[in-house]
Amino acid sequence: MLQSKVFQGLVFLATLAGESLAQTWCGKNYMSSSQPAEPGGEFPVPATSSQPLLALRCAQAIRPYLPDDANGASDPNAVSILIDTPVTFLQIAGAKAIPSGSTSDLSVTVTVNGKTLVSGNVPQNATKHALPFSLSSLSPRTAAYNMTCTATLSGQTFSATGLLTYLPDLPSGIGSVTKMDLRTGALLARPANGKGGAFAPVFPIGFYTQFDSYLAKDFTIPSKLASQGYIHPVPDFSNTTALNLVLDAMEEANIYLMYDMRGTYMNSTSVTAQVNSIKSRPNLLLWYTADEPDGTSDPLDATLKSSNLITSLDGGDGVGGAGYHPVSLVLNCENFHWTSYTQGSDIVLQDTYMVGNNVTFSTVWGTPCTTDYGDCGCDNCKGSFEDISTRMDEFKQRLFINGWDRTKAVWTVPQGFGNETYWKRFPTGQEFVVESVVGINHGALGSVSWDDPTSADIKSSGSTLALSLPKMSPFILSSNATFKQITINRVDFGLWTVGSQTLVLGTNMNNSPTVITLAQLGLPATGSSDAFTQVLDTGAVLDGARNHLSFQAVGTGAWIVKL
Ligand SMILES: *[C@@H]1O[C@H](CO)[C@@H](O)[C@H](O)[C@H]1NC(C)=O
Ligand SMILES: *[C@@H]1O[C@H](CO)[C@@H](O)[C@H](O)[C@H]1NC(C)=O
Ligand SMILES: *[C@@H]1O[C@H](CO)[C@@H](O)[C@H](O)[C@H]1NC(C)=O
Ligand SMILES: *[C@@H]1O[C@H](CO)[C@@H](O)[C@H](O)[C@H]1NC(C)=O
Ligand SMILES: *[C@@H]1O[C@H](CO)[C@@H](O)[C@H](O)[C@H]1NC(C)=O
Ligand SMILES: *[C@@H]1O[C@H](CO)[C@@H](O)[C@H](O)[C@H]1NC(C)=O
Ligand SMILES: *[C@@H]1O[C@H](CO)[C@@H](O)[C@H](O)[C@H]1NC(C)=O
Repeated sequence: MLQSKVFQGLVFLATLAGESLAQTWCGKNYMSSSQPAEPGGEFPVPATSSQPLLALRCAQAIRPYLPDDANGASDPNAVSILIDTPVTFLQIAGAKAIPSGSTSDLSVTVTVNGKTLVSGNVPQNATKHALPFSLSSLSPRTAAYNMTCTATLSGQTFSATGLLTYLPDLPSGIGSVTKMDLRTGALLARPANGKGGAFAPVFPIGFYTQFDSYLAKDFTIPSKLASQGYIHPVPDFSNTTALNLVLDAMEEANIYLMYDMRGTYMNSTSVTAQVNSIKSRPNLLLWYTADEPDGTSDPLDATLKSSNLITSLDGGDGVGGAGYHPVSLVLNCENFHWTSYTQGSDIVLQDTYMVGNNVTFSTVWGTPCTTDYGDCGCDNCKGSFEDISTRMDEFKQRLFINGWDRTKAVWTVPQGFGNETYWKRFPTGQEFVVESVVGINHGALGSVSWDDPTSADIKSSGSTLALSLPKMSPFILSSNATFKQITINRVDFGLWTVGSQTLVLGTNMNNSPTVITLAQLGLPATGSSDAFTQVLDTGAVLDGARNHLSFQAVGTGAWIVKL
């Protein structure tokens, strides 16, 4: 969050009398001169059902498809329709009663233009069940195909619709393609330097990086930052010459660009000019539109309109189908018009900043912070690292409820700033890694911290994490991985198993040392360290003889375990 936004980008809502003005953040009054008031816009809690329901969902496995895509031995499901059939007692999107006593598979048919694309049997409660098909039955085009999926089960019919984007080869004027692997939510891209190479999963990690005050002052910064593998310049880009020099240096250093249009994303003239000038860049990874539109109560359709415009300029149909790059935005509020703002994104980031601020009493505005009043710099927070995991889990759960869990992904924004307004201190480097890893363990597929320049401690720990990612991302981003998240004594773990190896990523949210046994993690006792390779250490070690992992206060470690 830009400090200036807190003080300048405020929303003015007329009171009933129309005379005094109230200022809001996340729809809440926060000036001591105004009264608490219910902000509205809460995500609806789904009704429950006494009998089990099943929701049919379908999505293309990789989006968009291109003419060269085909299934092969190394990825037999790359070209397929993913069928999800969650069984639930919640009235989530598309849920319908299961005929009582029926345990058999569903018979699923996917049609496009009234013709069957693929069909097959899918078990109940399946996740990402792949039905492979051949692209030869479709022609590449700008407009996404409407896809209808139907299933029958003991006389009950379930149905779902979805879009299938199959774009032509890159037209001249567009410099790269970023696909989303909807089996994992991960981005797939060619190398950022434009020299060619295969599509590969990318785990973006880095900082929102100040432009005018930093990048534009020294064009050698990108090569120095290359160890972070990533960069996200923050506008305003007042000097186009300098912007192009920075982008050239990034390309040369093989750093991807997340192009930020905060401040202009609602101005279609400006967005059109920016997208048209940036889209030929081979290192363009994705677009970024709104920065905390929920904080400032931007119009509820603003993010969707912007995303549609961008996509229409980026080779897509502009009505929901994919273009050549996904669109992202960040939400700051815990629960304010989430569905409206998220509809205009393929990737939604959450920025839960809980270090160094008083989350129950606003030191800036002198009011309490509650669910209907106040701004403490962390909306509806409790002031512990769990605020981040709670926010991640809520965003993921809302995607699931809306039927968007396959088609949209969540990223995390670790707090990399402090000593200002609400936040009295910077996180330490170790705390920075805790913030980042809690996000990753709860499903974040990218991590972009606000902001660089930051403290030397954060920069150094952030780099340790970034340099370990090439060893971890083959697990985190694998479409073959099975995943489990567990928290034991406030140590938060993610475990990704691929074949006979498991990545164990653990982070201690306690301010004191904590020991976790291998048995608590469901790992076999080895009595030695032979099966473990440590790939990240910001304060955690394996004690093989004692069969436990030992975490320092706010320490983090990752190990690859051969089972
Ligand atoms: C997934 O597993 C299949 C079958 O074991 C293997 O051929 C393929 O290479 C694996 N893919 C990835 C991305 O690990
Ligand atoms: C459906 O699968 C989920 C995990 O994906 C599991 O938690 C749940 O218990 C399953 N429900 C039923 C009815 O089997
Ligand atoms: C897909 O369906 C929508 C809604 O029915 C319709 O407006 C749109 O024109 C269709 N798109 C194509 C490409 O057929
Ligand atoms: C814009 O940036 C270029 C490259 O750094 C510099 O030479 C030029 O003086 C800048 N223009 C302005 C108006 O600051
Ligand atoms: C929108 O952007 C254009 C091009 O940058 C600019 O000329 C115009 O003043 C902007 N409009 C508003 C309302 O800010
Ligand atoms: C937050 O501020 C209130 C009011 O000044 C105070 O009572 C409380 O102890 C503070 N909490 C923290 C965590 O500093
Ligand atoms: C905190 O901010 C103040 C005012 O901007 C500055 O004078 C001080 O040096 C900063 N302290 C640290 C530790 O960054």
